[in-house]
Amino acid sequence: MNTKYKLHHFGIATKSIERCAAIYSKLGFEKSETVVEPSQKVKICFLTNEVGTTLELVEPIGDDSPVTRFVKQSGTTPYHSCYEVDDIYEAIDELEDLNFRVMFEPVESEAMDKGLICYLFSVEIGLFELYQKAV
Ligand code: NI
Repeated sequence: MNTKYKLHHFGIATKSIERCAAIYSKLGFEKSETVVEPSQKVKICFLTNEVGTTLELVEPIGDDSPVTRFVKQSGTTPYHSCYEVDDIYEAIDELEDLNFRVMFEPVESEAMDKGLICYLFSVEIGLFELYQKAV
């Protein structure tokens, strides 16, 4: 088995989506609407440019957001990569065999058109997000 992992975006934790996106907009990135992702206690927007690069800006809401510690430790910083797959459950099986730990089971993402997302963690790889498009 080898699930096809298509890079979807890099996730960047930031204290302020507004201030961060303002710089990226000067670099030619277009910003999506900012939406709240209640399951993660974060606000999210996507930045895309005309050559197909996609970045996700993630701003924590409150001190108990899973993203708060990244921002506190490092300021604005990349902290995960996200891969689109056809079958999120098959990919999870494959990754678990490689000692990835599931952080939470797949949930519908408000920010990603109700597709399924889930986060895994590997000591060697770091935070790894899976995304399966909504059908
Ligand atoms: Ni992401």
